[in-house]
Amino acid sequence: MPDRPRLVIASGNAGKLREYRDLLSGAGVELVAFDSEVEEVGESYSENARLKAEAALARSGLPSLGDDSGLEVEALHGFPGIKSARLGPTQEERTAELLRRLEGVPRPWEARFVCVIALAMPGRDTRFFEGECRGEVVPEWRGEAGFGYDPIFLVPGTGKTFGEMPPEEKRKYSHRAAAARALLESGALSELVPRLRR
Ligand code: IMP
Repeated sequence: MPDRPRLVIASGNAGKLREYRDLLSGAGVELVAFDSEVEEVGESYSENARLKAEAALARSGLPSLGDDSGLEVEALHGFPGIKSARLGPTQEERTAELLRRLEGVPRPWEARFVCVIALAMPGRDTRFFEGECRGEVVPEWRGEAGFGYDPIFLVPGTGKTFGEMPPEEKRKYSHRAAAARALLESGALSELVPRLRR
């Protein structure tokens, strides 16, 4: 549909982009991927999400969504948190590094995924939407689905890691789905549709 208003997803992360295409498929907007490549110098998810969204808005002039997310392990006092993408050069190394730091720590390794969405629109204050998913980090890699730390994140009550869930199952539990739901329920996107059509 060529006349749908565009919403920039300010990310170069293929896993996140795939999930937003699914989560926002009914929102009536055309999603455009644009990696604003900002340095994540913020001290919180919201600051980093804001940096990504506002840089994309400045470059494109279009409403832009920034996502900052991470995995927080209780026994490691919330580590890696906002540093989740920077624990190593590849995801395999990041996962291995996290598990290395957990060696000798008694299980269960309670953890949560957090996602903050920042929505930056021309002439408006940036708005924020948050979601979390509580679960447990497990020491063995389970499943090939999803991205990032999905294969070592066990979702309580399901017996599965995110890596073992197809996308439609992950979205029932995920932090990103919860943040996207908050965004959709706020009406911010439907308000954006008529603004862009004017
Ligand atoms: P950032 O938001 O660009 O700082 O990157 C967040 C990092 O957290 C990703 O690179 C992943 O390693 C991890 N992460 C965020 N959301 C998820 C998820 O849904 N599954 C698995 N890992 C995630």
